[in-house]
This record gives sequence, structure tokens and C-alpha cells, in this order.
Amino acid sequence: MLVLGLETSCDETAAAVVENGLTIRSNIVASQHDLHAPFGGVVPEVAARAHAERITAVVDEALRVAACRPADLGGIGVVNRPGLVGALLVGISAAKGFALAWDLPLVGVDHIDAHVYAAHLAGFHAYPHVSLIVSGGHTCLYRVAGPQRLAVLGQTADDAAGEAFDKVAQMLGLGFPGGPALARCAEKGDPHAIRFSRCGPNEKLSDSPNFSFSGLKTAAYYRLRDPAGGRALRKISEQERADVAAGFQEAACEILVEKTLAAAQRGGIKDVAIGGGVACNKRLRVLFAERARMLTPLVNVFFPPPALCADNAAMSAGLAFHRLSKGERDPLDLEADPTPKRA
Ligand code: KG4
Ligand code: ZN
Repeated sequence: MLVLGLETSCDETAAAVVENGLTIRSNIVASQHDLHAPFGGVVPEVAARAHAERITAVVDEALRVAACRPADLGGIGVVNRPGLVGALLVGISAAKGFALAWDLPLVGVDHIDAHVYAAHLAGFHAYPHVSLIVSGGHTCLYRVAGPQRLAVLGQTADDAAGEAFDKVAQMLGLGFPGGPALARCAEKGDPHAIRFSRCGPNEKLSDSPNFSFSGLKTAAYYRLRDPAGGRALRKISEQERADVAAGFQEAACEILVEKTLAAAQRGGIKDVAIGGGVACNKRLRVLFAERARMLTPLVNVFFPPPALCADNAAMSAGLAFHRLSKGERDPLDLEADPTPKRA
């Protein structure tokens, strides 16, 4: 079965065609980063308008690259939560239009579940496994027993990991999107020059599977704040900028790695998969490999390729297949829901 997937939850307009939940026939992503960069963050109204302008062309391109006609499709999967409500509505409305015009079943897809599914789509089929999803809006640990069979193990009490990368990048004057810019800047820095604390004084990272990044973000702010200038930031040298970026990245990555591996060990699970935009971070990939190798029994850590970690519609199409192939469909009054379902 060929499934058309649509994704418009944030600032990527994406469409993809996936065969039987596994074979990616096309995966088109139109990024809006250039539109939001002047504002230093995603502007919901700008995102929704850009989705509306681009969605039809992106779907046309996904069908063209997949060499597939609407009549060849078995259904449509559209992300309907969580995300920016105006942005979600564009994808949902387009999906309803296509479903009606082409007489196809439609199912709503949870964006976070789709990030978890990206590992399956990339060929990782070890179940049960622990999944860490680290994106701009979410930081969650799951026990995954199979596609769509998730149980929450832990989540963030405040900021998402990607949000913390973005905010610290902004303080460092590194532009938008902040995560990749901070990672590039950190390459020139010494990760040990500045040590940001990873948890409270009487805690160990392995004590809890829950995350908190606001303290780390605030520590970076206090490091950069001008003591004489209220909320203003100090002028810093290029080397200090790089050292703060590297020190922050090291702390953030260590928190993610230690808590995830501890959760896997606690549950007696030997396989771990990572997803979401922050999973593109090279230092995170290296640190996971280094630490997992030191454990007994060994823990195997899987990272999907970067194109499947960042927002894309292939993961949505792949996940939708598992409902569509059972004959399930959602009604055409499917709604946008901005909140995560496991809040
Ligand atoms: O999953 P995603 O593409 O969109 C959301 O669902 O939020 O994740 C975007 C997040 C942003 O916060 C971005 O700065 C971060 O992923 N990100 C990175 C890197 N690439 C993207 N963070 C750290 N290092 C990277 N290389
Ligand atoms: Zn995402």
C-alpha cells in the first residue's frame, strides 16, 4: 500500500510517499528557516501562511518523485497534533481536500509518535526498545513495544532540549535555527573550559528519567550576563563564545545520554533509538556510542539518518500505514490538537 504523508506542524512543509510503512518512495521537505530567521524564532502566522502557499506544490513534487498517481495511493496520513494550531490546520485541510477529491481514507498522525517511528522506517526493528525523542518542542523517553505501542518513561519538566539549544544560541548571537549553529560554534571551543552542572547538588543523572533544561539555560545566561548592565549580555571574545557553546552542548548531551542509558538498564532493555531534530547533533551521536560501549550488558544505540530525525513526512506516512492497512480511518471532521497527547 502506498501512503501519502503530510506534515505541517511547525516550520517545515513536508509531503512523502511511503510503501507498506517501510520503503520511502519520496520525501520532500520545504523548510521555512529563511522566513523565520529575521525574527529569531518561528512566527506562527508566518508559518501558517507559508504552509498554505507551498503545500500543493510539495504534494505534487512528492507524487512526481514517487512516480505515483493519486489513483495508486491507498490512503493519506496527516499530522494533526501536537504543533502550532494554525500550521497544523493547513496540512489537515489540504489532506481532507485530497482525501475527498481522490476518494481516499484519511488518518491523523501524532507528530511525536512519528518521530519514534522514524527508527523503524530506517530499518531498526528491535523491540522492545527505549526511544529518546529530542526536538524543538519535546523531550521524551518511551518504552516502545512496537509501532504505536508506546509507554512514557520520562519527560521534561520545563524546556525541551532543542528549545534550550535555540535559546542559548540566541544569547550567543548565533542566529536561527540555533541548534545547528550552536553545534558548529562548539566545534571551535573547549568542552571542558566551562563546566555547567548537569543536575542538582545531591542528585545523580541516573536517579530520574525526567529532564529539566531551564537550569542549564539559566546558567548559560548568568555566564553571559553583564554584571553591570541589568539584563544585558556581555561582549565576549570568539573563543569564549565557542567555549560556552561547547560547554553547554557537552552538558546537554551528557544529560540526555546518561538518563536514556539508565532508563534502558533499569528496564532491562538492550536497544535504544534516538529521534527528533537534536538527534542530528554529532556530539550527541558520539557520546551515546562512547557511553553505551562501556556498559555491561552492552547497549545498542541506533540513530536514523539526519533527514529522518528532523521534521519530515515520511515518518508520518510510514506510521499511518499501520492504521490504514487495518482498515482504520478518521472522520473528515478530524481536528487539529496543539497539545501533546501524553502531556
Ligand atoms: O524535530 P525538529 O526538526 O522539529 C520539532 O519537532 O521541533 O527539531 C528541531 C529542533 C530545533 O530546536 C533545532 O535547533 C534542533 O532540533 N536541532 C539541533 C541540531 N539540528 C537541529 N540541535 C542541536 N544540534 C543540532 N545539530
Ligand atoms: Zn519534530
